[in-house]
Amino acid sequence: MNTYVTGATIKELREKKKLTQAELAEIIGVSSKTVSKWETAKGLPDITLLQPLAQALGLSVIELMNGEHITNRNVSANLLRGKFYVCPLCGNIIHSTGHAVVSCCGITLPPLEAEEADGDHGICIERVEDEHFLTLRHPMTKDHFISFVAFVACDRVQLVKLYPEGGAETRMQLRGMGQLYWYCNRHGLFRRRP
Ligand SMILES: [Fe+2]
Repeated sequence: MNTYVTGATIKELREKKKLTQAELAEIIGVSSKTVSKWETAKGLPDITLLQPLAQALGLSVIELMNGEHITNRNVSANLLRGKFYVCPLCGNIIHSTGHAVVSCCGITLPPLEAEEADGDHGICIERVEDEHFLTLRHPMTKDHFISFVAFVACDRVQLVKLYPEGGAETRMQLRGMGQLYWYCNRHGLFRRRP
């Protein structure tokens, strides 16, 4: 999280909740002057007040920090609609099954948009016994490499981490309907339905 709750957010949420500054102040045990100061950017609520403030405004602390009410539309999470996030600083790979606010190394990460593979990022899939052997014709140098290959089916995610100076190849069991993804540190996320 790289922002703290702002006065504008408190004001907006308080008005939505149809509370006066005095009413909100009373619920959380501060003076109305204090609430007024927060809303006019002359002070910030102490961290110990975030929970009671969020509760009074009818949302979670995370939502309060984000300044919006997040509706969980992901009750029956579908892995096929999941998203990948990669941190450009440390290379951390995160997969979520639905909408998420993901941050790493102090950066809020956007969900990656997968593209159909171009000529420089093609993948070759060969069946070997009950597995598939995947080979990418791509450099594996320190500056330019394939960082991972993942197969996402409706009920499971397989992810293989690849490393520079290793081979751009792996074995996987591509069972069922799913989507194959691979990520180049320079050119981004690619996909293909095997
Ligand atoms: Fe590349």
